[in-house]
Amino acid sequence: MEITFYGHASLSLAIENTTVLVDPFITGNPNAKAIDITTLKADYILLTHAHQDHILDVEAIAKRTGATIVSNYEIATYYEQKGFKAHPMNHGGKWNFDFGTVKYVNAIHTSSFPDGTYGGQPGGFVISAQNKSVYIAGDTALTYDMKLIPLEYDLNLAILPIGDNFTMGVEDAVLASDFVQCDKVLGYHFDTFGYIEISHEDAITKFNAKGKTLSLLAIGESITV
Ligand code: NI
Ligand code: MN
Repeated sequence: MEITFYGHASLSLAIENTTVLVDPFITGNPNAKAIDITTLKADYILLTHAHQDHILDVEAIAKRTGATIVSNYEIATYYEQKGFKAHPMNHGGKWNFDFGTVKYVNAIHTSSFPDGTYGGQPGGFVISAQNKSVYIAGDTALTYDMKLIPLEYDLNLAILPIGDNFTMGVEDAVLASDFVQCDKVLGYHFDTFGYIEISHEDAITKFNAKGKTLSLLAIGESITV
């Protein structure tokens, strides 16, 4: 699968002919001005939680593409009531979609919509397709629950927040990559706002010191797993 970074926590996974978009927050990100959401493809939109910096562009993209929104029960129901297609999940649950399998896993964070509506409990996703598995942590603290993931999955990539303040910082993300037993990490949720600006060089050095690889993609750049 090919994974494209759209800034902040926004990603796109191209799996054969299916496009899985994750946490689209593009029009509100001054660093992502080069990305035009009216041209983005989406068959599915996966949402880790309801915070604005993860859902801002969901409705515009889902309306145009007819994509199915996949998230926890509360978020899925919220969009279903607005007339969107949605697939509700909850923690520990797995579903076989046409592109692969998705498991909704635990995250330690909060999850309210911008208007204060309850957004259920936040999560992350493990996506398995084409014999590859990718963990998208979502906004989360370092948590021992991450140790459950390698009991079931042999991960090819861990996508971890590294911006600190609202989520794990770099040091905890290094430990998280131990917990999930995956030395190949894509960092996200950094640099978008003042609270989460980080030194890229320092982050890469800290991962390298433990024999791990941290990729930091430019907005619009892709990696293949
Ligand atoms: Ni958040
Ligand atoms: Mn966030």
